Amino acid sequence: MLKNYWYVACTSEMLGAKPLGRVICNEPVVIFRQKDGTAAILRNVCPHRQAPLSMGTVHDNALRCAYHGMEFSATGQCIHIPSQDVIPPKAHVRSYPTCERYGFVWIWPGAPELATSAVPPQMPWREDKTWNASIVQYFHVKGSHMLMNDNLLDLSHVAFLHANSIGFDSSRLDNDPLEVVVEDHYIRTQRLFRNTIQAPAHKAWQPLTEPVDRTQRAEWHPPCTVNILARNENTDAQVDLRADHLITPETDETHHYYVAISRNFRIDDVDLTHKLDADARRVHMEDLEIAEAQQSMKPWTHGTPDMALKADKAVTASHRILERLEQAQAPVTL
Ligand code: FES
Ligand SMILES: [Fe+2]
Repeated sequence: MLKNYWYVACTSEMLGAKPLGRVICNEPVVIFRQKDGTAAILRNVCPHRQAPLSMGTVHDNALRCAYHGMEFSATGQCIHIPSQDVIPPKAHVRSYPTCERYGFVWIWPGAPELATSAVPPQMPWREDKTWNASIVQYFHVKGSHMLMNDNLLDLSHVAFLHANSIGFDSSRLDNDPLEVVVEDHYIRTQRLFRNTIQAPAHKAWQPLTEPVDRTQRAEWHPPCTVNILARNENTDAQVDLRADHLITPETDETHHYYVAISRNFRIDDVDLTHKLDADARRVHMEDLEIAEAQQSMKPWTHGTPDMALKADKAVTASHRILERLEQAQAPVTL
């Protein structure tokens, strides 16, 4: 599991006054907001009697254990023990580099000294006032994060798995104009339809004078981020819907799945926001169900490798990149 990356720990909205316990990359962590609003993340185990610190409460900028009241600062240092004056050197917990951006709290589970030279996945549209970036969805998935990675890199599944929601006629895959670009640490899959009509769903969002050019683009960055763009454009307008898929491993067999949806049209239309949210949630539940079903088959498949198809070019490329990165990271795995 790659640890030297920024992963979503939770959404900004999830983190209120109460600390939040999570398992991220096989590490139990507690996320909390200090009095000044800054998010902090510590290992979720009190060194006294191993109680989860997420059961505790925040006092000023410190997290107080619910059991006997030891208090820890954002650096993980114990700053108060109710029954004694001396604080032993062992009284600290691991703290994780943390930042907050694009509506998410991010954690760096790897070597802390490497965190400052990296940034979370760039999503400038989520900070652009001419966009609506209010839809953020969270799913807990009982399946390996790699199942969702592979799902997002082979969108031919949309014709079948999502036949009852956003599916399309699968015969269109026969002459699929799919273009796959693989670079060192980046994969782009794209379908570009020039001089065409709008898809019914796109027309319902924002009708344009036809013909239009339609772009469907998925950009993958390691370890597990996929930014999808659905664009309709003519000479007068460019209508964009973006779905940013952010995957955080929980354990080897489960993950946290976040999807942020942003658009540059009808940005004040609350009814449209609710509809897009509900429609997307239905689609993502279909992805969740297949990932959990695949995971449930693992006890019987005994590590049998997948069979690669032509449509799996991007999936296979991502596996190669991840393997390479795993090998390079090996000495710093914590
Ligand atoms: S278990 Fe946390 S203070 Fe005792
Ligand atoms: Fe899907």
